[in-house]
Amino acid sequence: MSNATKETPGGFAVLRELPSNVWNSIFRGPLPSTDLERSSTSFTNFFLHIHPVKVNRHTLRPAYTLGLGLISLFLFLILVVTGVLLMFYYVPSTTQAYDRMLDLRGTVAFGIFLRNMHRWSAHGMVAIVFLHMCRVFLTGAYKKPREFNWVLGVVLLLVTLFLSFTGYLLPWDQLAFWAITVGTSIAGYAPLIGKQMQFVLLGDTTVGQEALLRFYVLHVAVLPAVLVLLIAVHFWRIRKDGGLSRPEKAAETAPQTGVVKMRKVYGLQGFVRGPFTKVGNVPDDSVYSWPNLLMSELFVFVLPVSVILVVSLAFNAPLEQPVNVMHPPNPAKAPWYFLGLQEMVSYSAFWGGIGIPGIMVGLLLVTPYIDRGAKGVGKWFAKERLLANTIFLTLVTLNIIFIVIGTFFRGPNWTFVSPF
Ligand code: HEM
Repeated sequence: MSNATKETPGGFAVLRELPSNVWNSIFRGPLPSTDLERSSTSFTNFFLHIHPVKVNRHTLRPAYTLGLGLISLFLFLILVVTGVLLMFYYVPSTTQAYDRMLDLRGTVAFGIFLRNMHRWSAHGMVAIVFLHMCRVFLTGAYKKPREFNWVLGVVLLLVTLFLSFTGYLLPWDQLAFWAITVGTSIAGYAPLIGKQMQFVLLGDTTVGQEALLRFYVLHVAVLPAVLVLLIAVHFWRIRKDGGLSRPEKAAETAPQTGVVKMRKVYGLQGFVRGPFTKVGNVPDDSVYSWPNLLMSELFVFVLPVSVILVVSLAFNAPLEQPVNVMHPPNPAKAPWYFLGLQEMVSYSAFWGGIGIPGIMVGLLLVTPYIDRGAKGVGKWFAKERLLANTIFLTLVTLNIIFIVIGTFFRGPNWTFVSPF
C-alpha cells in the first residue's frame, strides 16, 4: 500500500475517527501533564489566558478572599443570561410591562423561575459586591500598588447599585413605581442641579413612560456594558498589580544570593526563564494556575449557582398590584439598599440624601491615597490597622443599622414601629 493511501482513510475509518478528529481540531493537545504544558495551557487558551501561569499559594486560600470577588462576577453572569432571556418577553411600555410580568408567571414555560433567578441574583450581587469591598478593606488590600483598582472597585459598586435600581422599575407594579419615585426624589435634594438631574433621569417631572424607557435602556444596555468594561479593567489590574495582595514574606528575599525582593515575573516567562524554578534559589511559593486556580474557580462557580437555583425554587420574586399613581403605599419605601439613605433623609433631606452619602463615597475614593502605611496588608484584622478597620466597621455598622430601621421599624408616615 502506498503512503498516500495510508494517510487518507476513507469510509468507515473516517466515521470512527470523527469524534477524535473534532476534539483534536478544538483542543490541540492532550490534557497537560508536564509543567511546560501546564504553563502553555494558561498561556494559549483564549478563556484561560486571563490567568497568570502561576499564582501564589496565598491567593488560593478560601479564608482570605472568601471567593467574594468571583461570586460577584458569577452573579453578574447569571444576571446577564437570565436578563437576556427575560428580554425576549419584556416590553418597556407602561401599558404592557405589568401584563408581561403576569405572562411570565402564568404562561411562559419556566418564566417565573427565570424572573426569580434574575431578581435574587440582583439582590445577591449588591450584597456580595459590598461584602467583597469589606474584605478588601479589612485585609488592607487597597494599599499600594492597588490604589487605582480600589477606586475602580468603588465605581463598580456604584454602577452595581445603579444597575439594580434601574431594574427595580421594570415590573411596573406598585412596589417598583413608588420605590423609584422615592429613590429619584432623593437625587432631587442635591443643591443647584438636583431637580435637573432628576429630570434627566426620569425624562419628565414624574415617573412615567419616559422614565420606564430610560431605565430600561440604562438597565439592559448602557450599565451592563459599562460594568463589563470596568470588570475587564479590574481583572487586568489585578494581574498588573502582581496578583492578589498577601503578607510580606521572607520567602520573597533570597538571602543566599543576597538578592532582596527579586522582581516576580508573571507570565509564561515566569516558567521559562523565571528565577523560581532553579534549584537552590528562592523557595517557590507559587503553584500552576492549571489546574489549581481553575479548579478553585469552578468550585466557587458552583456555589452561587446552586444557592440561586434553590432560592429561586423556594421563593417567588414579589409582584404587587399594577401601578396606581393615586394610591401610594404608606410608607413608600426605596429599594432596601437605599433604605439607609431614606432613613437619614427623614432627619435631613440634604444631609441624608446627598451630603453624608457624598462624603462617604468621597472618603472611600481617597482612602488608599491617605492611608499610606504599608503594614498589615494581606491579613484579616491586622493589629497594625486597628484604627482604620475600627472606623470602617463603625461606618458599615451604622449603615446596616439605618437599613434595618428603615426596613423593619418604619410604619405609616415613617413613624417608628417598636419591635416589642
Ligand atoms: C462587579 C463588582 C466586582 C467584581 C466582579 C470584582 C471582582 C474581583 C475579583 C474576582 C477579585 C479577585 C478575587 C477576590 O479578591 O475575591 C477582585 C479583587 C479586588 N477587588 Fe474587586 N470586584 C468587584 C468590586 C469591587 C469593589 C466594590 C472593590 C472596592 C471598593 C473592589 C476592589 C478590589 C481590589 C482592591 C482587589 C484586589 C484585592 C487583593 O489584591 O487582595 N472590587 N475583585
